[in-house]
Amino acid sequence: MEENSSLPPVDLGPIHVKTPVVLSPMAGVTNWPFRVLCEEYGPEGLYVAEMITARALVARNPKALRLCRFAPGERIRSLQLYGVSPAIVEMAARIVVDEGMADHVDLNFGCPVPKVTRRGGGSALPWKSGLFRDIIHRVVKVCSEADIPVTAKIRVGIDHDHETFLDAGRIAQDEGCAAVTLHARTTAEYYGGHSDWSRIAELVGELDIPVFGNGDIWSADDALAMVRRTGCAGVAIGRGCQGRPWLFADLRNAFAGSDERMEPTLGEVGRVIMRHAELLTEFYDGDETMAVHDLRKHVAWYLKGFPVGGGVRKAFMECEDLADVRRRIDSLDPDIPYPRAVEDKPRGRVRYAKKVHLPYGWLDSRDLTDDQRRTVISADPLDASY
Ligand SMILES: Cc1cc2nc3c(=O)[nH]c(=O)nc-3n(C[C@H](O)[C@H](O)[C@H](O)COP(=O)(O)O)c2cc1C
Repeated sequence: MEENSSLPPVDLGPIHVKTPVVLSPMAGVTNWPFRVLCEEYGPEGLYVAEMITARALVARNPKALRLCRFAPGERIRSLQLYGVSPAIVEMAARIVVDEGMADHVDLNFGCPVPKVTRRGGGSALPWKSGLFRDIIHRVVKVCSEADIPVTAKIRVGIDHDHETFLDAGRIAQDEGCAAVTLHARTTAEYYGGHSDWSRIAELVGELDIPVFGNGDIWSADDALAMVRRTGCAGVAIGRGCQGRPWLFADLRNAFAGSDERMEPTLGEVGRVIMRHAELLTEFYDGDETMAVHDLRKHVAWYLKGFPVGGGVRKAFMECEDLADVRRRIDSLDPDIPYPRAVEDKPRGRVRYAKKVHLPYGWLDSRDLTDDQRRTVISADPLDASY
């Protein structure tokens, strides 16, 4: 594929993704306020909510229910479920279907966070191929009643001696997943180094269903390069969008063959920050304190690379309501141009795992022992996310 050539749409069951660009789910980041901002810049992609713990949804945990909400204008309501117990993930899928909560369900088999993998979840789970198959089988069965496509998000494996992505991709395809997203790192690699895009190409060669490539896309040109090098049907972007929802405008332009890119001034970024704060206030049912506390991490990302002093950044971190945020934004110089130096540079998490945490004896066999079955399944958490 040539640079700047367009990328054909991808159909996930009845869902038509005109620009196959996915906002990769990020816990604590991709709630509806952020998704709405991204979708306004690139209205033709797929914007996935952050992972929701199946057990918390089944228990009707209020935080989980809040994470399941969508803004009225969201075109494709996309939820991600996480769980280890097939029966509980199935129950969560049943709630999604019976209550018409979403148009698309993604399953999280990629999370490397110790709290998740030590329970056998996230990226630890595909190693137990029978358990992995069982979860997908049940969720696809329930979701197919409502013609809701199911996709799976995976990593390369636990480490390079325990790779799972090819098996996992085949199982996902056999069990009826509409697509697979591969974050081309192992659990042990966590967020360190560079993801190995050649593994995405391998998976593309192996599967008939669309593969979304994921890992280290920091600019629209990176996205074009990933498609060119791997042949993936679409791309999923996480950290590159942090503090840059307008990246979706760049991506749409790039895949439409245009060189046009957005470089907002600090004044324009300030307007996005204010709107983000207002949307978060709605998300938290009018609680401005919760909203501006949630906003803090986003502000740090929004201001990345701008010549804004430590005092001003600190003042943003001390805001307690919308009026405080407005005052801080008004104190910024609106004419400062976009800092090109950080445009295509990594942001957010970037380190290797200190150690991969797994249930006892997890790597000894690809089958679950009875003990493991009892412990991991009873440990399925009640927290809304992680
Ligand atoms: C703060 C943060 C939260 C994340 N939460 C989730 C999640 O809830 N579900 C998931 O599948 N992946 C999650 N991820 C992984 C991202 O979706 C993505 O796969 C990963 O960051 C690699 O893509 P990137 O290089 O474009 O960031 C998270 C990543 C970050 C940095």
